[in-house]
Amino acid sequence: SENVKRALESLRQGKMILLFDMEGREEETDFAIPALSVNPSDVRVMRKDGGGLICVSVGPDASEKLGLVFMADMLRDAATVNPALAGIIEKSGDIEYDSRSSFSLWVNHRNTRTGIPDNDRALTISRIGEIVRDVMEGIDVKFGSEFRTPGHVALLRAAEDLLDDRCGQTELSVALTKMAGITPAMAICEMLDDHNGLALSKEDAIRYAEDNGLVFVEGKEILEAYRTWNRMQ
Ligand code: 5RP
Ligand code: CA
Repeated sequence: SENVKRALESLRQGKMILLFDMEGREEETDFAIPALSVNPSDVRVMRKDGGGLICVSVGPDASEKLGLVFMADMLRDAATVNPALAGIIEKSGDIEYDSRSSFSLWVNHRNTRTGIPDNDRALTISRIGEIVRDVMEGIDVKFGSEFRTPGHVALLRAAEDLLDDRCGQTELSVALTKMAGITPAMAICEMLDDHNGLALSKEDAIRYAEDNGLVFVEGKEILEAYRTWNRMQ
């Protein structure tokens, strides 16, 4: 659709968009911006106007190459030596709107101090963008010499078959990078409502997009565009 095209054009220019998942799922809107172009003022916008959790979604191929495993799988391994962990690990049925979360490691760039101020998180996020770009170009990268875990930026691993598998903002944002031809690493952050603490309504998110000159795009449009795009690959 024209709207998806506008979203792809924004992303190619390194600009933020608003990304609603879909009716019947979370029904939340996230800020979404290419990790490579994130600067401290973008982090400020996400934490002040968004207020959710600032994460970076990473495509499945780059995740595989970087060794970004799902946190739940990592904890299952850890539970073999620390059985106290076993009971707390996410299991199917825990999440009402999906079969599993997409959480992987939490990281900080090694040149950050505490990891949380806007400049620290912007450094971590933009450097994740660089390492994902490099690994996708076949460059030999040393994840651990640049980043440490635990840290203050959550990395999310997109499902292997993207939207054929899962339709969270994790996969929707990575599907957009594929169609835009850009690095598959996107900073995302949920928009919350300052009046009631709940997820910002879709109507209010659309109004925010209009007031701030941003593209608002939703999962169903992306799904349709992605299926068409995929058939042509
Ligand atoms: C991290 C989350 C968010 O919902 C984020 O939008 C990514 O998750 P999903 O792909 O499940 O929508 O859980 O704050
Ligand atoms: Ca979400």
